[in-house]
Amino acid sequence: MSRRPVNPARRLVDGGSIPFMGSAHSKSRSSPLLPVILLAVGAVLLIGYLYSGSGDVSCMLEVQRALPVLKKAYGDSMRKVLHVGPETCSVVSKLLKEEDTEAWGVEPYDLDDVDANCKSLVRKGIVRVADIKFPLPYRAKSFSLVIVSDAVDYLTPKYLNKTLPEMARVSADGVVIFTGYPGQHSAKIAELSKFGRPAKLRSPSWWIKYFLQNNLEDNEAATKKFEQAAAKRSYKPACQVFHIKSLH
Ligand SMILES: *[C@@H]1O[C@H](CO)[C@@H](O)[C@H](O)[C@H]1NC(C)=O
Repeated sequence: MSRRPVNPARRLVDGGSIPFMGSAHSKSRSSPLLPVILLAVGAVLLIGYLYSGSGDVSCMLEVQRALPVLKKAYGDSMRKVLHVGPETCSVVSKLLKEEDTEAWGVEPYDLDDVDANCKSLVRKGIVRVADIKFPLPYRAKSFSLVIVSDAVDYLTPKYLNKTLPEMARVSADGVVIFTGYPGQHSAKIAELSKFGRPAKLRSPSWWIKYFLQNNLEDNEAATKKFEQAAAKRSYKPACQVFHIKSLH
């Protein structure tokens, strides 16, 4: 990876057909300093790149940490759960280990490098790959609860307007949204190509205003139960958690 910043310089140096480049060629040969500087710049870029990723918080993992609290807050409504978000296979696998819980998953992005367990979930139709900018491939109230993590961070308000009501439509007892706090993670280069745009992490007040404007009602009862169960277990979510009512 440290080669990357070096390569463009190589191309310049190798472009010997242009006279000016020819002189640059001989110059770079005579000065041993240039490669050293380029290497140093490469190393700095690489370190910066690695560090920028280290602050990442994945709300997908937060869903898994929050499961006992969600069970307490939602009780029976955890019997048929749809999870929507990147790496849904791992959330669905965890949910399937819970007693009295059936689970399905929608993976909004390409599944690459997945393990045999994930492939098997896809083969059985438990996990589907689907672009969540379009209507979800399920009937109204197919699930008791829809839990979404991270995926909303990659949607513009235009698509949020379509996608969130879809989640409210396919659920019967509510939608739980796990989303990062602003400044919580920086998109990695690999993520940019996968998700199409960098994550846009919005503030709690942005979300509350958004829900109000779009008639997505706060599920007050669930919010209260979730907060009580969280307090009892000294559980502090590392992501923002919102509880929205289903559309009826
Ligand atoms: C989303 O929906 C709200 C409420 O209907 C509307 O005010 C807003 O303009 C929409 N946003 C976009 C980007 O379409």
